[in-house]
Amino acid sequence: MNPIEKINDSSTLWNQVSLADYENHMSHETVAQLPLLSALTKKYLEKHQPQKPLFLGIAGGNGLEHVDATTVEHVVGIDINEDYLQQTYLRFKNTLPQLKLIKCNIDETTETFIQSDFIWAALFLEYVDLKNCIQFMLNNLAEGGVIVVTIQSNNGNGAVSQSGIEGVNVLSGQFKRIDKEIVQSTMVDFGFHKSFEEENSLPNGKTFLTFTFHRRGKLADEQHTRE
Ligand SMILES: C[S@@+](CC[C@H](N)C(=O)[O-])C[C@H]1O[C@@H](n2cnc3c(N)ncnc32)[C@H](O)[C@@H]1O
Repeated sequence: MNPIEKINDSSTLWNQVSLADYENHMSHETVAQLPLLSALTKKYLEKHQPQKPLFLGIAGGNGLEHVDATTVEHVVGIDINEDYLQQTYLRFKNTLPQLKLIKCNIDETTETFIQSDFIWAALFLEYVDLKNCIQFMLNNLAEGGVIVVTIQSNNGNGAVSQSGIEGVNVLSGQFKRIDKEIVQSTMVDFGFHKSFEEENSLPNGKTFLTFTFHRRGKLADEQHTRE
């Protein structure tokens, strides 16, 4: 039985990059994005203690090692690359049986898969249609839920960092620089407000900007004032 649910079949340049190339690139000492993303995932999981986290662009499951399998009810991971999901399944099938993996091009759906209390989208908005993705998140977020997004600020550096791993260079054709003001104003248009932000520096001069959004409304406002 295939443990991965397939929602649509389309592909992008991401389907041309092996997980080994992607992860070797992201963990290369001049790039160092994989360990920072893992550390951020840990921090925000501990902060929000979700029961039903949803990971967009889960790739090989970076950060899933910090999910507390004794407390979560369901964990959903979505990615366009089925090979990545197969490897994520093999990595976590024994330690995180609540994990459900979905192969899907998010640009082609706003379907509801889960009423999540925590959506994690790290280095994802750069590769998808922003408005469609926010609508997708809205449809998959429970009342009082939180969305945490990390975007990359290149600070004048190239979109794809230099690590010597040729296999990832194709991604420069897929990457769109995303402006933090546009992300924030579009989230506001969809009924969210920003409750927290942080910036982290990377070795090659790039930075990660991480924003936390709550849905505007009574429950969200109560949560916001407690932070
Ligand atoms: C930069 S990686 C995300 C990094 C990951 N969150 C981490 O911590 O390592 C972007 C991921 O989004 C996936 N992706 C890109 N475009 C997508 C789309 N349209 N729909 C679903 N997944 C997509 C890619 O396959 C890739 O695994």
